[in-house]
Amino acid sequence: MPRYAYVNGQYLPHRDAMVHVEDRGFQFADGVYEVVTVQDGRLVDEEGHLNRLNRSLGELQMASPMASRTALELVMRTLIRRNGVVNGIIYLQVTRGVAPRDFRYPSRTKPTLVMTTRHMDLNPVARLERGVAVITMPDIRWKRRDIKSVALLPQAMGKQMAAEAGAFEGWMVDDDGTITEGCSSNAWIVTDDNVLVTREPTTRILNGITRQSVLRLAADEGIGFEERPFSVAEARAAKEAFLTSATTYVTPVTQIDGETIGDGLPGRLARRLRQAYWQYAAGDHADVQAAKGP
Ligand SMILES: Cc1ncc(COP(=O)(O)O)c(C=O)c1O
Repeated sequence: MPRYAYVNGQYLPHRDAMVHVEDRGFQFADGVYEVVTVQDGRLVDEEGHLNRLNRSLGELQMASPMASRTALELVMRTLIRRNGVVNGIIYLQVTRGVAPRDFRYPSRTKPTLVMTTRHMDLNPVARLERGVAVITMPDIRWKRRDIKSVALLPQAMGKQMAAEAGAFEGWMVDDDGTITEGCSSNAWIVTDDNVLVTREPTTRILNGITRQSVLRLAADEGIGFEERPFSVAEARAAKEAFLTSATTYVTPVTQIDGETIGDGLPGRLARRLRQAYWQYAAGDHADVQAAKGP
């Protein structure tokens, strides 16, 4: 099946999809992005992701790349259909556009909009049965982590470090010794009293869309939670740990820095929330669907 990318109004064969050398995304990482999962042909948490895209654009005083959200959604669906994606992701990137290299924002530049897709196994059974290992590392990022910027070099370095250590993810640690989040996911632990803990959404973390849905699902299921920072020591001693993101949903963490979490198997609440999120993604969860509006 031919693979297309969408670039500024055109569906191009993936190998021919290009942006200009003076695109500000290339020159300054002056751009933002979203990743939306496709499960059984259905876009998961689409509204939340597109709301956050708008928020990221607004924080950077960047114009919307399309006249309306409806138009954007139509392009997303067209690309997904053209590429035959049933289970996978769609990646959207918006940059400030092409302009002669100058730090200040250009005044009349059209934003660049790029979309690509990828097929993906959304239920990697082996990984879920064992849980994943994470390692901790200093959080060396900038202070506006709430903006989903394409400036991802610290995360690329962190993911590389994790991979070299045989770990699935890196959990980043602020100067005060608390865990902020994963390189591309939010970090969670479960206390001895079965309370979920995940950091509150400030400028120190990206407020994950999956994170927000999982909090709503937890509330629906009567599972208690606290939004607060937690230390590496608290995480290592936790009853359970897990991570969330659009591509990994809820994924149990069974090792932190080589130390076993709980009994070394995916925790009960992590498994329950994964199941709940899966059903929600499939469109089966009436309460959370209703909470999203019509
Ligand atoms: C730094 C960071 N935190 C959290 C997340 C999870 O966000 P979401 O659930 O919206 O995918 C991501 C996703 O890419 C991320 O890059």
